[in-house]
Amino acid sequence: MRGRYTEGTKCIARHTILRFEFETNRYMKTLSTLLFRNRSYRYQDIPQLIYIITVLSIFHVGYSFGQPELFNVDERLVEPYDLPELLILANGQKVQNVADWEHIRRHEILDIFLEEVYGKLPLKDLQHTIEVVDRNETALNNTAIRQQWKLTFESHGKQLDIEVLAYLPKSVTSPPVFLVPNFRGNQTIINDPNIVITSSWVRMRKNSDTSGVVDHKATEASRGTSSSRFPLEKIIANGFGLYTFYYGDVDPDFNDFSNGIHPLFYEQGEDKPKSDAWGAISAWAWGITKVIDVIEYNPLSTDSKIIVMGHSRLGKAALWSGVIDDRIDMAISNNSGCMGAAILRRRFGETVKIINTRFPHWFADNFKKYNDNEKELPVDQHMLIALMAPRPVYIASAEEDRWADPKGEYLAGYYASPAYKLYGEKGLSNPEPPAVNVPIHQTIGYHMRTGKHDVTDYDWEQYMKFARTHFDK
Ligand code: GCU
Repeated sequence: MRGRYTEGTKCIARHTILRFEFETNRYMKTLSTLLFRNRSYRYQDIPQLIYIITVLSIFHVGYSFGQPELFNVDERLVEPYDLPELLILANGQKVQNVADWEHIRRHEILDIFLEEVYGKLPLKDLQHTIEVVDRNETALNNTAIRQQWKLTFESHGKQLDIEVLAYLPKSVTSPPVFLVPNFRGNQTIINDPNIVITSSWVRMRKNSDTSGVVDHKATEASRGTSSSRFPLEKIIANGFGLYTFYYGDVDPDFNDFSNGIHPLFYEQGEDKPKSDAWGAISAWAWGITKVIDVIEYNPLSTDSKIIVMGHSRLGKAALWSGVIDDRIDMAISNNSGCMGAAILRRRFGETVKIINTRFPHWFADNFKKYNDNEKELPVDQHMLIALMAPRPVYIASAEEDRWADPKGEYLAGYYASPAYKLYGEKGLSNPEPPAVNVPIHQTIGYHMRTGKHDVTDYDWEQYMKFARTHFDK
């Protein structure tokens, strides 16, 4: 205990020194730029120099204190932590078998994620219609059938439409399908003039001149702009289908609960979700489950295996959807990071406080209680992964994506593995992540590829191989 305490204190001290060093460097750089760039001084300039230094120092100290705490990306500064026990019941007894897990422990953990983290989804269902908007039998050089569908929900005098786009290989009956929500509209995944351009609000990139979004509306120029993340020809050639929808159709990604799906469920007098009710990530996961209704409704994929894959914030939603909907046969998290796959107690890269501050609408309001207070949360993300058991789950990291904590993403898979073991399935057995570009394909899969936060062909190659291994058994 004492050892751990001392170690923890040392970590805090090192962190403080690191921050001090960082701030001092920044200060010195600004000062030298201001004072010495293209200038020389004489004796009589001293008062002016003192004035500049004083103003800058006051400004800098004020600015630094106003900043959120610097996040940590140094493995040596990760403080020791205790994870909540995966296989100990709330009454202190040990989970002995699958029955204990499925009938007791799984529910205990799920309830905490519902109430304290992502927020409870509505229990009632909404009436909806599914309409075919387009069907083309000769897509992708006659290798695929392209279909577009419109899902419409109505309630409380409000309407919500989700546009769904599908490509299914012509050569395979009931192909396994990837269901992948997209960030900027279905028209961005391939440059095809027949695809409906989303009319929903679209998030703009900071330097948004290349994405074809103007005043938060997608334009013709946005067609195909995300195609590098959707290697459609390869997906079809490998015998898989693809379903996609725009996540902003379900809930536009900004802190406002008067739009998107939430208002269709409000009770009398409500204008925002209750403190234990769904935030945007739960809403996007709900959207995923509704698109599964389309997959099942479509005779071409009624019997298909369903693989949900999501990147980044949509990786968080993909994992969560796999937990709440067991029609999902496999879930894939691509660089999902904080509140996706990464162990939150490591406080490496993005932390609970940072994510709640920057994205106050993503989680249940209750989750804000855990800002800088992770240890009080009765769950951590290894438990989220474990809730998928025994279905296959894949966690993908990128080496340079330190904000998402690649090691923490691996460890969630590692610490989830005992739940898989209950079913005789193999998870991740080594407490250390594998080398870069050396994937592990057990019932839990993992890779850390070289490069940045993104979805690449390498990632897709692993996902298709992983799916083949499990579905061709
Ligand atoms: C931000 C956020 C992450 C998220 C990412 C994304 O970086 O901090 O949590 O995963 O956006 O979705 O692109």
